Amino acid sequence: MRLRKKPWAEPLIKASSEFIVTKPEEYQSKWQTRFSKKAPIYIEIGMGKGRFIIEMAQKHPEKNFVGIELQTTITAIALKKQLGLRLPNLQLIRANGSGLNEYFAPAEVSGIYLNFSDPWPKKRQRKRRLTYRSFLKQYKEVMKPEGIIEFKTDNRGLFEYSLVSMNNFGMFFKEVYLDLHESLELGKENVMTEYEEKFSKKGQPIYKIEAGFTPRSIK
Ligand SMILES: C[S@@+](CC[C@H](N)C(=O)[O-])C[C@H]1O[C@@H](n2cnc3c(N)ncnc32)[C@H](O)[C@@H]1O
Repeated sequence: MRLRKKPWAEPLIKASSEFIVTKPEEYQSKWQTRFSKKAPIYIEIGMGKGRFIIEMAQKHPEKNFVGIELQTTITAIALKKQLGLRLPNLQLIRANGSGLNEYFAPAEVSGIYLNFSDPWPKKRQRKRRLTYRSFLKQYKEVMKPEGIIEFKTDNRGLFEYSLVSMNNFGMFFKEVYLDLHESLELGKENVMTEYEEKFSKKGQPIYKIEAGFTPRSIK
């Protein structure tokens, strides 16, 4: 998703330091101070316009959430929503997820969401995929040992690549869905993202992987 730069985006981010951080390395090991209550921290990398992370924060006041997004205008759209809602358990970061282990201390994060990540289909671009091994290494560093990565995509190529990449990294699979909306057990939570709604309306299957780094995470 590419959006034309909006002139209001950067000033809005600068004026909203209560809810958004642009130098996340300054909060490494101190993220709990950004929230009104101490609670396990769940992060989404590539949150887009924020629909998923906002709904998760609304549904789960017992957890704290951090949405990370690289693009300024898109981050500012998510920020606008949070400024209207002022959810005490949601913070946003405008930064590249590739610096994750500078933003969070070891085991500071309880779980990670990757939703409809950019597929980067060319082989020479594979290091940018959010399930490339250098990203998995960082997820392992910042996440608690029992933490789970939940990854959703409509892209068959990225799904297959991610299964192989996670398997080669020695990860454990808790669930793998070839058609999430078809196979979801009744009552199991699925918060939709903007992309998920768009693609599932077109009848495309949604793939999902839930995986962790230790056998403890597959309980
Ligand atoms: C295809 S969109 C999906 C947005 C949203 N998660 C959804 O499902 O509707 C992917 C988003 O990830 C962001 N992104 C890609 N690589 C990133 C990175 N390394 N760090 C942070 N955000 C990233 C992009 O800017 C884009 O907004």
